[in-house]
Amino acid sequence: MTTPDGHGGGTAGFPAADPFSSAGAFPLPSTLSHAVTGARYWLPPQAALAPSAAPAPPPVAFDVEAVRREFPQLHREVNGRPLVWLDNGATTLKPRQVTEAVGEHYARDTSNVHRGAHALARQATQVYEEGREEAAKLLRTRDTGEVVFVRGTTEAVNLVAQSWGRANLGVGDEILVSTAEHHSNLVPWQLIAAERRARVVPIPLLPDGRLDQDAYRDLLGNKTRLVALTHASNTLGTVPPVAEMTALAHRWGARVLVDGAQAVCHFPVDVTELDADFYAFSGHKVFAPTGIGVLYGKREVLEAMPPWQGGGNMIDSVSFGRTSYAPLPHRLEAGTGHIAGVAGLRAALRYLGSLDREAATAYEERLTAYATRALSAVPGIRLLGTAPGKIGVLTFLVAGADPMELAGLLDRQGIAVRAGHHCAQPALAAYGVTSAVRASLAVYNTAREVDALASALYEAVGV
Ligand code: ALA
Repeated sequence: MTTPDGHGGGTAGFPAADPFSSAGAFPLPSTLSHAVTGARYWLPPQAALAPSAAPAPPPVAFDVEAVRREFPQLHREVNGRPLVWLDNGATTLKPRQVTEAVGEHYARDTSNVHRGAHALARQATQVYEEGREEAAKLLRTRDTGEVVFVRGTTEAVNLVAQSWGRANLGVGDEILVSTAEHHSNLVPWQLIAAERRARVVPIPLLPDGRLDQDAYRDLLGNKTRLVALTHASNTLGTVPPVAEMTALAHRWGARVLVDGAQAVCHFPVDVTELDADFYAFSGHKVFAPTGIGVLYGKREVLEAMPPWQGGGNMIDSVSFGRTSYAPLPHRLEAGTGHIAGVAGLRAALRYLGSLDREAATAYEERLTAYATRALSAVPGIRLLGTAPGKIGVLTFLVAGADPMELAGLLDRQGIAVRAGHHCAQPALAAYGVTSAVRASLAVYNTAREVDALASALYEAVGV
């Protein structure tokens, strides 16, 4: 995919000298007109120079408009305004390839997998196993036995906690959990810790949202049995040094579980390079349907885990005297899976694989830097999480404005953001707050959409 170089003329998705000159979709409030004149961006000059502003990486050839054409929902209106979808941390939109794959499964190809001696069962099984191969490719493992289908990241963590945790945790053992975690990578550990009389120990944050590596080194010890880490925080955007932290944990014989829910759609992941024992992600956060996700586990670790749920598909043979189990990954997949969901996941991951991932990641980095500058200039704003290398998650408070009301105001302008605790109450508590607004970017967002958000915030604060 190529686009004209943006210098002086507008890089793909980024504004030319006047970002509103060609589209006019998001009229600038008249009170802001002073900020437009002569500026490459409409931000006031002092904002562009603000110390918190990260320098924008050089422009890259990336055709965001071609990407946008594949996502029908981006072309609808909400509240009479073009939809600006900045709630990608909650769920990503779906390209037409995914909706078509799910529709075709139900309209034409419905069948269960693995068990039927007929053509449609064979076809469904093929699609299902190709979905697994795509997931293995995404995570860069060659062994599809290491790819277990689950409902999503939450179920993946619960599976590990209930199976591995019950078998491996004992009195006084410690599970280190970063303070940046989503509740889904904390509460399952609290549940199993209570049962096994183990302890959940927080890895603290630094003020910018990085994990405190000195504290982490001090916390590791011979009681550490598992480290639970996000690969990208849903609230702060932080991308911790997972490979280094995993290597340290392994020195103490601890296992590492990485929550990749917010990572896989933003940058390439290589579980072999990370050396993580477990890695989880949700389909719906990487352009696929809800209700389908993946737990990756190292073969030798999964092999040693007892089944979590019993039922069909996960057995080898069953009798009242003795039941034996199927090989990986089926042993950990009781019951009929989300077959249409896997068809959608296969389509989503093939779609993602068709993009130039390096260019897409660079584009998102540039958009994140742009959004950080744009939001930093809003009077009274406080951004939570400014760690270098963060993903495009911008969580903020505006002085005097209630986050829910602010989100409602943005909604009236067609701008979808999330407000509240973001299922990461400890991360917000580290900043002394209980609620905030979050705008989260994806590869199909544009600088113009960021401008729409910033303009609406300017309006909200009465500038
Ligand atoms: N985990 C999702 C989010 O961060 C729902 O919004």
